[in-house]
Parts: sequence; structure tokens; C-alpha cells
Amino acid sequence: MLPSLAIRRSIFSPTLRRSLATASRTPLSSDAYTKPVNPNEPAISSTPQDVTPEQREALEAALRIDQAGEVAANYIYMGQMAILSRDRKTKELLQEMKDQEQKHLDVMNKLQAQHDVRPTVLWEVAKVAGFGLGAVTALMGREAAMACTEAVETVIGEHYDDQLKEMDQFSTSHPSIPLLKEVIKEFRDDELEHLDTAVQNYSQRAPAHALLSTVIGGGCKIAIELCRRF
Ligand SMILES: [Fe+2]
Ligand SMILES: [Fe+2]
Repeated sequence: MLPSLAIRRSIFSPTLRRSLATASRTPLSSDAYTKPVNPNEPAISSTPQDVTPEQREALEAALRIDQAGEVAANYIYMGQMAILSRDRKTKELLQEMKDQEQKHLDVMNKLQAQHDVRPTVLWEVAKVAGFGLGAVTALMGREAAMACTEAVETVIGEHYDDQLKEMDQFSTSHPSIPLLKEVIKEFRDDELEHLDTAVQNYSQRAPAHALLSTVIGGGCKIAIELCRRF
């Protein structure tokens, strides 16, 4: 069993974590969706019918939140890139993370359709709020933009961990659930890499770093609760 998020962050250096992650993630679980061998495979084309009503509700809430979160993440990076793209190195860094967020969103869109989950009604709000958060923090400077990434990815990483614990309790033999858990683990590890990247790029030198982290982290938690319900 993996140690908790906080412990993993502290006991492995970023470089070691990155190489461990890369070594253990070839091929990627998300390949099942991005490079399907057989599109009719039950694990990627059907949803479990043998879960309890509570578990169905938890599955739907999880996918609705994750899909909205990946939409917001894409727009956060778009907002940051709109302001910070003049610096080539920063642009490349942001583009690399944005490309991963786009893959996360593409897979979440497929999972949402597969499990017949209604998207959040706050879809458009997620786009505007994400872009605004990215742009405003970028206007405060490169370090503040990185502090935004650090705060968001901390909450999202923990949130993905919580979902995995919840899905461990699912009483189903359907093959989509073990695959979903592996995809969530993969995405969680991607988000932790983004977090590392932000810290390595001096997120903690941002003005009012503690305040920024608290406000942005708190905002993310509220957004998660709103998407769970709506
Ligand atoms: Fe993501
Ligand atoms: Fe991310």
C-alpha cells in the first residue's frame, strides 16, 4: 500500500519520485482510453450494474467532479499562458502541463459518457473561474502563478487519493472499476509532478504565499463540493 500523499511528498526527492513514477507507468493505464485495442471491451464501454445506490452516487459524483476539475485545470493553464507566454521557458513549462491536463480531460470525457454521468451544470463557471484564476495569479508574477499550481494540485492530489479510498469499498466485479482506479492513480501522480514542478519553480517565493495557498486551496474545496451537488 502506498504511503499517504504527505509522507510520499516528504520521503522521496522530486527526481526520485519522477523516475519511480515513469518506470512504474509504462504502459499507462489511460492508454486503455487514448489508444483502445478493442473499443467494445467491457472495462471501457460499460458501467457496473451491481453497485449499491450509494456507490453509484459516489461514482457519479467522483466523475462529475473530476471532469469539471480537469476543465478548470485546462483553463487555469490557458489563463497563465495568456499572460506569461512571452518567456519561452515558462511557456514550454506551462504548455507541457497543459498538454497533460488536456489528456486528463479527454479521458474524463470518455469516462463520463461510459458511466452515463451527468456533467456539472457549473461547466461554464469552471472555465471562467479557471481562466480568471490562472490569469490573475500570472499577473501577480511567475512565482504567484506557480503558487496557484502548487495550491490547486495539492487539493486535487488529495482529492484523487480520497476517491481511491472510497472506491476500495465498492462491491462490484465489473472490470471498469479496477481500471478507473488505475487511471485515477496515474492522474494523481501527474498532478503531483505538476506540484513538484511548481515548487521547483519557486512557488514558495510568491508574495503572500501562505495567504494565496489558503485562499486558492479553500476555493478548490468549495468548487469540489459544488460540483458534487450540482
Ligand atoms: Fe489534471
Ligand atoms: Fe495538474
